[in-house]
Amino acid sequence: MRTQVGIVGAGPAGLTLALLLQQQGIESIVLERRDRDYVEGRVRAGLLEQNTVDLMRALGVAERLDERGLVHDGVYLRWQGQTQHIPMTELTGRSITIYGQQQVVRDLIDACNERGIPVRFEVDEVAVHDLEGEPRITYRDEGGEQSIECDLIAGCDGFHGICRPSIPDGVLTEHEYVYPFGWLGILAEAAPTTDELIYAWHERGFALYSMRSPQISRLYLQVPAEESIEDWPDERIWEELQLRLGVEGWSVGQGPIFEKGITPMRSFVAEPMQYGNLYLAGDSAHIVPPTGAKGLNLAANDVRLLAAAIAERYRSGDIGLLERYSETALRRVWRAQDFSNYMTQLLHRFDDGDAFQARLQLSRLEQLRRSEAAARNLAENYVGLPASDDF
Ligand code: APR
Ligand code: PHB
Repeated sequence: MRTQVGIVGAGPAGLTLALLLQQQGIESIVLERRDRDYVEGRVRAGLLEQNTVDLMRALGVAERLDERGLVHDGVYLRWQGQTQHIPMTELTGRSITIYGQQQVVRDLIDACNERGIPVRFEVDEVAVHDLEGEPRITYRDEGGEQSIECDLIAGCDGFHGICRPSIPDGVLTEHEYVYPFGWLGILAEAAPTTDELIYAWHERGFALYSMRSPQISRLYLQVPAEESIEDWPDERIWEELQLRLGVEGWSVGQGPIFEKGITPMRSFVAEPMQYGNLYLAGDSAHIVPPTGAKGLNLAANDVRLLAAAIAERYRSGDIGLLERYSETALRRVWRAQDFSNYMTQLLHRFDDGDAFQARLQLSRLEQLRRSEAAARNLAENYVGLPASDDF
């Protein structure tokens, strides 16, 4: 088999890349280890920057997103019984959209199917070869051993994928910080009792009130990294959410919990995001803690840049954009790393409730209330800086 671009991984990065390439008349094949139901069912975050919404629209895959996405013009910060609204749109002219990543993936897979882009699910033993020369991907499916020759390989196989580890030792610099806590996340059949997201600082730890629809709430609690979900029966979750998010005369809307899990939190960047003819995009190259809601948005930005660079190579033979891909993508990646780390540091309980740290956090929150410049800085980062070729 032969194709122009071999894509490993059918997450948001791989699927979006395949669709973007097809728009430019470039052929690709997407290889995915899991089955379609698993990929579509994986519960993740659900906040899209304006840039990501614009990209989905340009790809013609935003019909359901435009119908069901919840457009928000701000978020609330809550601490010690007070609530501060950060009016994102007023401060930046841009908005955010709440739409689950599961839905995004479903829409992308549907579009690939409708447009005849091959997405091969349940392939085993995917391996990449000859990265510096004429690259090849091998894998195994029900028909036996397969091999695909391609011009370029896109490593869109997430943090635990095989592409990044296929790069020879010593090429990549890997930066990593693992947080001493994780997020316990739930989905509940409960009408949200808030119109916009609430990020809550609390002595007991961080909590976040998000949603998926007018009937479905998505809520998170900071828990210790080693926590087991068995220790969190539903009643305990609701009680803790109410303690951390509640204010006088207002409570969190409750309902049956139909999904719960604990996600560890890390910051990770591998650079450069390229080796020979292998280009990394999305979680395979970087992970951010979810506090800034940047994961999916960074993946979308990577493939926007990568698709443009690949298209330029085929159109004119000019590989300048490809050569600069890593450098360009990493500018936004590091900005998002810093912002996600800032949001995490601002709102989580660190070091067993160290009083000095807590006082610094409260002072920063107070500054966000008093200073429009501080609020604007948060808002600009949160909604995402406008997409351009060099950012
Ligand atoms: N072979 C083939 N596919 C693989 C392999 C492999 N060896 N290893 C992993 N995969 C697949 C995974 O099963 C998954 O479907 O690659 C895909 C990677 O998808 P994601 O992990 O969703 O990563 P990405 O597409 O970069 O999307 C980033 O995901 O983690 C969130 O918050 C993050 O929203 C962000 C988004
Ligand atoms: C979500 O809705 O899942 C969500 C929203 C905002 C975040 C993280 C997750 O910062």
